[in-house]
Amino acid sequence: MLSIAHHFTETFHAEHREVRDLLLALIDAFTGGDAAQVRKLVEALSAAIGPHFRYEEEAMYPGLKPVFGAHYMDKLLSDHDDTIRNIRELAELAETAEVDTLGTIGENQAAWGIALVREILPHLSDCDGLSLMVETLPEDDVVHILATREVAREINADVLTWAGTLRARRV
Ligand SMILES: [Fe+2]
Repeated sequence: MLSIAHHFTETFHAEHREVRDLLLALIDAFTGGDAAQVRKLVEALSAAIGPHFRYEEEAMYPGLKPVFGAHYMDKLLSDHDDTIRNIRELAELAETAEVDTLGTIGENQAAWGIALVREILPHLSDCDGLSLMVETLPEDDVVHILATREVAREINADVLTWAGTLRARRV
């Protein structure tokens, strides 16, 4: 049987892989200039990231604070701020492209969109490494993180909705 920490790590990696694949597909969609596909992928990205960010901020970051200290926790939160801003810009870009240019994305818009996506990528690979430290936490902390994840998934707010309502930090 898997330990709870191992179960967490597997779950965590799977979520990051899903986000990674959406981000890489988004780069392809921008390269192909397909506005409808971009919009679909941005929506899927926002939906996937919403509950993920929420349980990270509500349970995992507080659990990791004794390990990393407050300074790095601020850095992680501001990384989330950056990602939320980029997803908001990506959603606006997709909407504008669909309305203004009959479903095609121009070269400049595509380059901007790809730059926004690429800015998210390092946060994703950084975040994936945090499971290395979660594995050292007391089992109760890991159970709490997983329980908070379940609640966040039940509420299922996409990241832009969550950022505009329940999230304490405003970006
Ligand atoms: Fe993450």
